[in-house]
Amino acid sequence: MRDVQDHWFRQAKREGYRSRAAFKLTEIDDKKKVLSKGDRVLDCGAAPGSWCQVAARRVGPRGSVVGVDLKSIDSSGLPPNVTLLEADLREIELESIGGTMFDVVLSDMAPDTTGDHFGDHHRSIRLCNELLDRAHIWLRPGGNLVMKVFEGEAYRDLLDRAGSMFSKAKGFKPVASRGESVEMFVICAGQLSAAERDQDGGGPTEAEQIAPPRPKPGPGWSS
Ligand SMILES: C[S@@+](CC[C@H](N)C(=O)[O-])C[C@H]1O[C@@H](n2cnc3c(N)ncnc32)[C@H](O)[C@@H]1O
Repeated sequence: MRDVQDHWFRQAKREGYRSRAAFKLTEIDDKKKVLSKGDRVLDCGAAPGSWCQVAARRVGPRGSVVGVDLKSIDSSGLPPNVTLLEADLREIELESIGGTMFDVVLSDMAPDTTGDHFGDHHRSIRLCNELLDRAHIWLRPGGNLVMKVFEGEAYRDLLDRAGSMFSKAKGFKPVASRGESVEMFVICAGQLSAAERDQDGGGPTEAEQIAPPRPKPGPGWSS
């Protein structure tokens, strides 16, 4: 397992990434097509910044990335379309991260692990649920969300909840994650609008009228 981790670590150094986590997002996006040119991306739990590097490259100069973490992130060498914020994700308002809904929300957030798998799993699940609680505020209808979770007994419930909020929600384990046995990524495509969620009607919210839904998930979703 250490050999596998060393391989990705060396590869990240060679390619100028701040951590080997870069290869997880690269594979997720190659297979699931969550990012598009011109997207506005919110990267939650962004330190030291390798997902920001990957996302910034993929959305291109017309797109932008806001990276948020409890820890400060060194901005030197990051592309100009990356903005950083040192904050607890659970305490920020949309206004402090640009005031406009995002096309994509990414979360590689993880609690500090203690070695107690049960406790670590539930803390990770809580972070994911806190992200889903805010999805309708931060992510525009039709937008995509990727979040890391430590697998365990509550994983299925999390997947079900995500499935009720998005057109599609699936678990995915990138090759670069194989050394970290409990780590899984939930890939959610096409956030449902309030009207779609609420079958009883209730028209679109003001934000939804401003941000029309994206097309339904594309070809990356067949696998
Ligand atoms: C695995 S690291 C992220 C690596 C990053 N994706 C990269 O590619 O460089 C997980 C990060 O989540 C952050 N985190 C955990 N809880 C958070 C919270 N409530 N708000 C913001 N960041 C949080 C941690 O500080 C940690 O830096």
